[in-house]
Amino acid sequence: MTDTQKIIKGSASSLMQTYKLQPVALDHGKGCRAYDTDGKAYLDCAAGIAVASLGHASPAVLKTITEQAAKLMICQASYATEPKEKAAKLLIETSCFDKIYFSNSGTESVEAALKLARKWAYEEKGEGCHEIITFHNSFHGRTYGSASITEKRHTQPYFAPYIEGIHYATFNDLPSVKALVSDKTAAIILEPVQGEGGLTPADADFLKGLRTLCDENNIALIFDEVQTGFGRLGTLYAYEYFGVEPDIAAWAKGMGAGFPVGAMAARDKFAAAFQPGSHGTTYGGNPLACAVVASVMEEMLKPGFMEHVQKTGKFLRTGLEDLKRSSNKITDIRGAGLMIGVDTVFDIKKLLPALRDNGLMSTQAGEATLRLTPPLIMSEDEAKEALEIIGKTLQEMKK
Ligand SMILES: Cc1ncc(COP(=O)(O)O)c(C=O)c1O
Repeated sequence: MTDTQKIIKGSASSLMQTYKLQPVALDHGKGCRAYDTDGKAYLDCAAGIAVASLGHASPAVLKTITEQAAKLMICQASYATEPKEKAAKLLIETSCFDKIYFSNSGTESVEAALKLARKWAYEEKGEGCHEIITFHNSFHGRTYGSASITEKRHTQPYFAPYIEGIHYATFNDLPSVKALVSDKTAAIILEPVQGEGGLTPADADFLKGLRTLCDENNIALIFDEVQTGFGRLGTLYAYEYFGVEPDIAAWAKGMGAGFPVGAMAARDKFAAAFQPGSHGTTYGGNPLACAVVASVMEEMLKPGFMEHVQKTGKFLRTGLEDLKRSSNKITDIRGAGLMIGVDTVFDIKKLLPALRDNGLMSTQAGEATLRLTPPLIMSEDEAKEALEIIGKTLQEMKK
């Protein structure tokens, strides 16, 4: 048995099977490439599902982790530290928000957003005002609050009861949201581009309509930017891409470029609902994670960074449109920036391994969509290579 086979077999026998194991064991990464334990290189168009925003082994992140780990990794959340202050200040200065709460993951950021919105509504509008409007095809995470506002709950009855007061509207359909609004509504939450649901972007007019609806009814508008934030759409924050400002946002993934960290941001009006004892976390806001966030932000704020993302996104999109025309194997292309969904005539369960065998790592979204979320630093040559691999694989595959 090879070392790789031993790692995969050992993982299969010792880990809970929450994921179907791939027949590959990964060893290391550099830039836009990941390498398996047999030394095979993959162009990483998954990036840990939109996480490795600066690529693997980013020199800036490595330097920060090394320096900050040697200095101070953890302290009680009630202490101020320079990295926490710096990261929060950078987030506030560059966004429409006034206050930051640090967490460790996407689902925790969403939980924090839901709790903040409910506490704000309780104090502002009264005890019964706790309802949340979410959307079909949504994905917000796997802890109970997040799972309760995620479409997948409907296929997981064994986890019930979910939290109460959740209503599902239809994405990009304002009348379906209006029909659910009442004096019990605390918040409306959505992904600006539905990720796991299949890479469907919101219509800017729909988001504008939601903004007006929330303003008129004093409802918190929450954007779950966990997958779309931090440059993924070619803007630092996803809301900037659409030109509609939410009241509260949930962030994670790309903001740590691979380091586990998340945050929830809010305008003062809402943020004031959190007081000592309302909410908290042992690890959230630790100096190491915050130093990483600050260094990721500094990289993303460098002149030309977002223009590069926009340019590479357009390049990939144009190449995919060309492939669609020439191959007849692509049926739809969706998304924004470097978050691209491709529907093909092939079974996604067969397409992903075929792409991987040809040296490209990617992921599935929805039932049938190929999702491309490469590092934001992907070069034009690498994007060209990705298109060549996709074209070649579509040509080789048989139904
Ligand atoms: C939009 C969105 N929200 C929340 C989450 C949950 O994030 P995490 O897996 O870090 O808990 C995800 C993860 O894919 C996501 O895409």
